[in-house]
Amino acid sequence: MGYDLKMRVWRGDENGGDLVDYTVEVEAGEVVLDAIHRLQATQAGDLAVRWNCKAGKCGSCSAEINGRPRLLCMTRLSIFEPTETITVTPMRTFPVLRDLVTDVSFNYEKARQVPPFTPPVNLKPGDYRMQQVDVERSQEFRKCIECFLCQDVCHVIRDHEENKPSYAGPRFFIRYAELDMHPLDTVDRKQMLQEEQGLGLCNITKCCTEVCPEHIKITDNAIIPMKERVVDVKFDPWGKVMRTRREAEQPRTPAAQLLTSDAAAAEGAVTAAPSRTVLSAAPVAPVKAAKATPVAARAAPVPAAPAAPAAPSRPAAVTPHVTPHVTPHVTPHVTVSHDLADADRAVASRTAYMQTLMSLHGVAELVLAGTQRRANRSIKLVVTGDGFATGPLPRPPWRLAVRGTDLVVGDDWLVLPLHGTFVDLAANAGVACAPPADAYPPASGCKPGNRMHIDHTAATDLLRALKIGDAACRAMATAHAPTNPPEPILWPEHFDVGITLDAVNYGVSPGDDSVPEAYAYVGPHTARKGKFWNQPFGAARPMTEFADADAVVAFFEEGRRQATPKTPAT
Ligand code: SF4
Ligand code: SF4
Ligand code: FES
Repeated sequence: MGYDLKMRVWRGDENGGDLVDYTVEVEAGEVVLDAIHRLQATQAGDLAVRWNCKAGKCGSCSAEINGRPRLLCMTRLSIFEPTETITVTPMRTFPVLRDLVTDVSFNYEKARQVPPFTPPVNLKPGDYRMQQVDVERSQEFRKCIECFLCQDVCHVIRDHEENKPSYAGPRFFIRYAELDMHPLDTVDRKQMLQEEQGLGLCNITKCCTEVCPEHIKITDNAIIPMKERVVDVKFDPWGKVMRTRREAEQPRTPAAQLLTSDAAAAEGAVTAAPSRTVLSAAPVAPVKAAKATPVAARAAPVPAAPAAPAAPSRPAAVTPHVTPHVTPHVTPHVTVSHDLADADRAVASRTAYMQTLMSLHGVAELVLAGTQRRANRSIKLVVTGDGFATGPLPRPPWRLAVRGTDLVVGDDWLVLPLHGTFVDLAANAGVACAPPADAYPPASGCKPGNRMHIDHTAATDLLRALKIGDAACRAMATAHAPTNPPEPILWPEHFDVGITLDAVNYGVSPGDDSVPEAYAYVGPHTARKGKFWNQPFGAARPMTEFADADAVVAFFEEGRRQATPKTPAT
């Protein structure tokens, strides 16, 4: 028996819209999507609605009916009173494209961030039989049709756009759970889920479970078990011992090591730091000549930093001499040398320097920058008098600093030697060991399980170079931008300290693939020609050429003069 259904349908686009009243003739047994189609056919030919299967299997027709997230094709009209006006609106959590169609690409981005299923490398098909209980556990989660109704209803992102970057949402919590519960998977995603994908923000209201058209018990079977697993890892030492034994047979790789660069690129944060070749993860190589780098090197500007307190017009007490381990004349071709022992010592010294450089870069990226990024979204580190540090953090440990060859936690309440693995160092400091992977692709080449190799003399030289660089940058900033001098930033991606003034980068790097020793650089954003410019990214000079920060400033000033277009005399 047919009747006239009163409908209110949201019409509009990203610029705004309103509810429009319609009366549509419908038949008993029809679903809301039928009514919408009849509306399209008879009164509103330009009404946008997305659908495909009309069978509750494609997940396309998600919308909100009387404020509740539902599939249009699976919502029978018979659940409403014939006299009732039903209101159909687009999913509120996602940006509207038009009428009932929303842009759900947020979910695809989150899907890309999930490290994929990774079975042991040597496992051949047929080598392993899964228990039925394991099959059933993941089968429930595989029923998901990606309608994103659970994402739509979740209050963590429904009214809080700001939570989206750091929150995967219930649909992806079940994906992480599915993979974590798979007996053959070798990747440990728990830390990533908690620290970077916002599992802790879910307070188990179960709204997601209520709206799931596949009746997946999202909270009971995925979210709560994952929360328990995270708690086990963090707070149950005995469980940790047992797990270590158990996992010795099938080790799990922390997910943070597998992150791809897609997310970082999408964040746009890659461009936040100077774009330059970075030290490769390969073992330390013998001395070699500086190799050419891509033209893009250092073309990207260092973003302006917040106003800094006025720096002295000339750098104060900096140690007047940098003594890198490698002097320019040392090469592996020691046949030209009459003193093989000296050459061996030089190579050993250089190896120690490069290992120390890589280790300190790893600490900066995995321990300091990762922690800071997760705490306040920033990756800007600062050079201190005796090392480098995060800025103030909004929560414990409040601040992390490398001082010489120690990691200082908080206000000196814990001093840990830079020794052992990165992951143990971070655990002892009470923080996660993971790079700020959503800001830029991990660049130090260090993994949490790698060991640090820090030579005291090399660390002293390296930190002294950064200190001189910081002082020289401050002097430049004060001289050329006295009203609002930019604060020098130690970028964890390239592990160099720098500033930008008038579209030219100035800084000091402890060494990288471009120049494998400490060097000062001037990098105009637009390439310049001439003898001064000896690198694809601009000009670089080894720190051995400079007696002190004043000498580096002189080099910066010459770079500024060379980079400034000459105006013809009038
Ligand atoms: S249970 Fe958690 S994920 Fe599900 S809707 Fe509530 S807060 Fe969101
Ligand atoms: S879990 Fe359920 S509600 Fe969420 S996307 Fe999958 S099918 Fe839809
Ligand atoms: S049209 Fe496919 S789920 Fe509704």
